Amino acid sequence: MNVVMIGAGYVGLTTGTCFASLGCNVCCVDLNEERIRNLKHGQIPIFEPGLGELVAQMTAAGRLDFSTDLAAAVKSADFIFIAVGTPARADGDIDLSYVEAAARQIGRFIPDEAIVVIKSTVVAGTARAIGQILKSAKGGRNVYVASNPEFLREGSAIDDFMKADRIVVGSDEPATAAAMRELYRPLIEMGIPFISTTTTDAELIKYAANAFLALKIGFINEVANICENAGGNVTTVAQGVGADRRIGQNFLQPGPGFGGSCFPKDTRAFAATGRRYGAPQTLIERLIEGNEERKAMLADRILAVLTEKRRSRVAILGMAFKAQTDDVRESAALTVVSALTKAGVEVRGHDPKARGPAQSVLGTEVIWHEDPYAAAHGADVVAILTEWDDYRALDLKRLADLMNGKHLFDYRNLLCPESVTRHGLFYHGIGRPLVKPPLDDRRKSAGGSHLWADVAASPI
Ligand code: UDX
Repeated sequence: MNVVMIGAGYVGLTTGTCFASLGCNVCCVDLNEERIRNLKHGQIPIFEPGLGELVAQMTAAGRLDFSTDLAAAVKSADFIFIAVGTPARADGDIDLSYVEAAARQIGRFIPDEAIVVIKSTVVAGTARAIGQILKSAKGGRNVYVASNPEFLREGSAIDDFMKADRIVVGSDEPATAAAMRELYRPLIEMGIPFISTTTTDAELIKYAANAFLALKIGFINEVANICENAGGNVTTVAQGVGADRRIGQNFLQPGPGFGGSCFPKDTRAFAATGRRYGAPQTLIERLIEGNEERKAMLADRILAVLTEKRRSRVAILGMAFKAQTDDVRESAALTVVSALTKAGVEVRGHDPKARGPAQSVLGTEVIWHEDPYAAAHGADVVAILTEWDDYRALDLKRLADLMNGKHLFDYRNLLCPESVTRHGLFYHGIGRPLVKPPLDDRRKSAGGSHLWADVAASPI
């Protein structure tokens, strides 16, 4: 089967490469000539575990190719996936212009039997509208359109494709559903459920699924706030809650608020869809606000322990919106850094993978370091924002010795509070009460720090 993937970004490249590994002949097409040139030389534009190796294997096997020539690529295609960006508009809705432009460009060239599959995340009704665009570009001849949302998480995208919980395919005529079932047959035979729906239902499934997952995170973050004040431990509470199979353990990990290219954008688009159809998604509207407030609140917590802000230095460990990615889009770290620098605090930064992308957003707001200890050197506060394994394994004695102050904010609950306080540091986790170091250790480690008086009067 010949598959064309329009858009060689994170979704298109991963999906195309995975289809090649299932035996399809795949051509990934992108307007970005440099990207295509690099891909032809095996250079992957994103950090995604295992993807580089799979791209190399599939290219060597002759089943994966890259091109900028859209018209030539689609001429012999059986399936044409549209996997281009759907950026957010100022009103929260999404901009469909790239999807529409792709449809207009391919309309004249696609074979009569080819199926155009919308992979991009799009609002309800888009597949049908794209069908109309294609039909008029084809001079009124029939076209086949399917909606096939992706559920790929950055960092585990290949597994999420190959071992998906389900494959959702929306189509408005049985022949298209049957052809899509055939395309996915290798995965269906491995036991992955194939859910066949209308195009509108498939579009809604994608948004409703992401909105629900984001709600779970928002919910546990609010439970974490209660735990902090009531003396509870959110990890234990989440375990007990998630043990109910109706709820489940996944996506109950509290943190600094969700980020990334999907949840923030998709929840806003879902809320905008609700408003458009006169069905306000009030839970989601509140979730979106609460998530942004949380990021700002966690920055305020750090600022609250710094009495002389303009003389203070904070080391931020982790800029990516989560581990195993170099993506910083809507990362809580960006909000925290901006709030700190706005208050006059000097920010030092480290991230094992996302330094480049973070640097291009934050510019000179942050002084960057190659390792977390160099970043922590002389810092009054160290704050962990991303759950990289490098930070789980920190040498806490070394860290405490290098620091000027005594506050460690663990916004991913990576560390054991007692092993932090043992080295004279105050431990500020999420959903756990503040843990202070034993008094002797506090005195011992206070040294000549100008913050000792502040620590004693710490408002947290
Ligand atoms: C998400 C969806 O999971 C995926 O199905 C969809 O296709 C794209 O969007 P992704 O953005 O890669 O994937 O990341 P995900 O692992 O879902 O995490 C999103 C955000 O939520 C991150 O900031 C993460 O740190 C946060 N999160 C996730 C939590 O705070 N707690 C959790 O329990 C899970």
